[in-house]
Amino acid sequence: MTEELRAAVIGVGRIGSLHASIYRDDPRTRLVAVMDADPERSGAVGNEFGANAYTTVDELIANETLDVVSIATPESFRLEITRKCIDAGINMLLEKPLAPTLAESRSLIQAVKQSGLKSTVNFILRSDPRYVHAKQSVADGSVGELCTLFGRRRGTAAGAAILGEWTDLLISTAIHDLDAMIWLADAKVERVHAEGVMKQCAQWGHHDAVMAVLRFENGVIGSLETSWVLPSTVPAPLDASLQVVGTGGGVFVDGSNHGLSVVDDRRFSLPDLTHWPSGPTGVYGDLKFSVERFIRHLVDGDEAPMQLDDALYAEEIVAAVKESMAIEAPVRPSSTVR
Ligand SMILES: NC(=O)c1ccc[n+]([C@@H]2O[C@H](COP(=O)([O-])OP(=O)(O)OC[C@H]3O[C@@H](n4cnc5c(N)ncnc54)[C@H](O)[C@@H]3O)[C@@H](O)[C@H]2O)c1
Repeated sequence: MTEELRAAVIGVGRIGSLHASIYRDDPRTRLVAVMDADPERSGAVGNEFGANAYTTVDELIANETLDVVSIATPESFRLEITRKCIDAGINMLLEKPLAPTLAESRSLIQAVKQSGLKSTVNFILRSDPRYVHAKQSVADGSVGELCTLFGRRRGTAAGAAILGEWTDLLISTAIHDLDAMIWLADAKVERVHAEGVMKQCAQWGHHDAVMAVLRFENGVIGSLETSWVLPSTVPAPLDASLQVVGTGGGVFVDGSNHGLSVVDDRRFSLPDLTHWPSGPTGVYGDLKFSVERFIRHLVDGDEAPMQLDDALYAEEIVAAVKESMAIEAPVRPSSTVR
C-alpha cells in the first residue's frame, strides 16, 4: 500500500459528501473519485472536491485503482456494492446499518471476513471523545460497579420527514445509543422491553418515539429514550445524552447543546460542534475521528474503530426492540455473534 491512500466515496449524499471532504483534506489520503447513482449529485460533489465522478460502481472500479472506499449509500444497496468492492480488493469503511435485514448484514460480514480485506463500520459515538471517556471510566473501574446506563437521542419531526420513507428511527438513529450502552456494559443483552408511539411514521409502519429498557447479563440496566417528534423549531438539531451510574461514580454527557448559542434576525440556534461541524480546516468532530481511525488502521495497523460483529450485534438488539414492541412483551434477543 502506498503512503497516500487512494480513496473514493460511493453515495455522496448528506453523510457521504462529508466522508469525501475528510479524505480530500487528510494528508494520508487522496480523494480520487466519487460515485453516486444520481449524476447531478456525483458531478457536483466531484467538481467541488476535484475528484473524478461516476454513476456506477462498475465504472468506478474499472477506471480507478483504489486503496479505500466509503460506502455511504442507503443500506439497501450496501451488500451488492460491498461484494463488488471486495472483488476489486478495496478496503471498506461502511456506513451503518450494514444492510436492511439481519440476513443481509450477516452475508455482508461473511463476505468481508472471507476476503481478508480491512473494514469497519462508522458508529461515530465510538469516536466521540465524551463517549470514549465514559468507556475508559467504566473500563478502568473509576465508576465502581456499573449499575445503570441511560441514552437519549431526541431529534425532530424533520428526521421522520426526510428519512421515514426508507429507514426508521431505531435503525438509523437510536442504534448509536443502543451500541454505546452495549459497548459500555460490555455484556450480552439478556432481555429487552420496549414501547413505541406511532404518529407521522404510521404511514410507513414504524415508530416516531420509542422507550426501551435493556437488562444485560451482568446485571446492568440500560434505558433508551428516542424520538422524531418535536417540531424543527427547537434550537438544536439533536438533543442527546448519556448517563453512566456506578457504585463509585458516574459520567454524564449533555448533548443538548455544544456550548455555542447563536441568535440572528431569524432564530435562536445551538449549532452542532460535535458530530460533523465544518471549520477552517474542513469537517471535524466525531465523523473525522472515525474516518481518521480507519485510515490509521490501514496505514499503521492501529485497532479499527469498530468490529463488524459489534455492528451486527447492535442491529440484532434493534431487531429485539422492534420485536418487543410488536408482541407487546419483553424479548430475549437471539444473536449469532454473542
Ligand atoms: N454514522 C452516522 O452517523 C450516519 C449519519 C447519517 C447517515 N448514515 C448512514 O449513511 C447512509 C446514507 O444516509 P444519508 O443520510 O447520507 O442519505 P442520503 O439520501 O443523503 O444520501 C445517499 C446518497 O446515495 C445515493 N445512492 C442511492 N442509491 C445508490 C446506489 N445504488 N449507488 C450509488 N449511490 C446511490 C443517493 O443518490 C444519495 O446521494 C444510510 O445508511 C445512513 O443510515 C450514517
